[in-house]
Amino acid sequence: MSAPQNIYDDAAFFAGYSRLPRFGEGWTGAFEHAAFMSLLPPARGLRVLDLGCGVGQLAHYLAAAGAARAVAADLSARMLAEARRHRRHPKLDFVRAAIERLAFAPASFDLAVSSLAVHYVADWPRLCRELATWIAPGGLFVYSTEHPVYLSRATEAGWLDPSPAATPAWALTRYGDEGERSEHWIVEGVRKHHRMVSTQLNGLIDAGFAIERVLEPMPTPAMLEAHPEWAIEANRPFALLVRARRLPR
Ligand SMILES: C[S@@+](CC[C@H](N)C(=O)[O-])C[C@H]1O[C@@H](n2cnc3c(N)ncnc32)[C@H](O)[C@@H]1O
Repeated sequence: MSAPQNIYDDAAFFAGYSRLPRFGEGWTGAFEHAAFMSLLPPARGLRVLDLGCGVGQLAHYLAAAGAARAVAADLSARMLAEARRHRRHPKLDFVRAAIERLAFAPASFDLAVSSLAVHYVADWPRLCRELATWIAPGGLFVYSTEHPVYLSRATEAGWLDPSPAATPAWALTRYGDEGERSEHWIVEGVRKHHRMVSTQLNGLIDAGFAIERVLEPMPTPAMLEAHPEWAIEANRPFALLVRARRLPR
């Protein structure tokens, strides 16, 4: 299995990524933001882990909302430098580490979150097993990931015919062929890991989680009023969001 790729520390990639509207304070305007927030429990008193925290918006939000403590891990020094510069909080520790190399004592956390980062992790069953150990019984894992339908697109743009006059149709390929996919996103060679919806949910169930909620956000009328350009998003899911609860051992 290949080592984690630290693409966010690539200068050209970071320059492009940091110009996306969702970067930094723009995170609340992201397409799946409201759906993600709807899955979170009240943070007060919780011990929180954020996997792939990026520039730290979510971890800082949870710390400011009263978490007992928050540990936010990311592989990228550039992303963490931005997090430490703008999102310090006395209850929040940023840790530079690959998700695959993290180690915590059993039942260290009440809530683990991860926003658009687990599709960078190759070994899903292992991550589910580790989370089931780190999260105390009754605790939650809330994550978003690029939807496997989005991730297993056949072309760079994904649309069969990208011309504005065409009826939008999504070009899906090799949905059943799970594993690493290399794509052009800002730069060439960005590596992600495709896993079917069933593989994701069954990995969590096998590790000892109960699936509480599954969301595939679609544009609402209110969203379309602010972002008419999001109408095309109704033709295929961009993100998959899951809330899973650690069952008693
Ligand atoms: C799309 S960004 C999401 C950042 C943040 N969670 C958010 O929603 O804004 C993905 C983040 O995952 C981090 N990442 C990717 N692979 C990782 C890995 N194997 N271990 C830790 N972090 C990783 C990247 O450095 C990047 O900050």
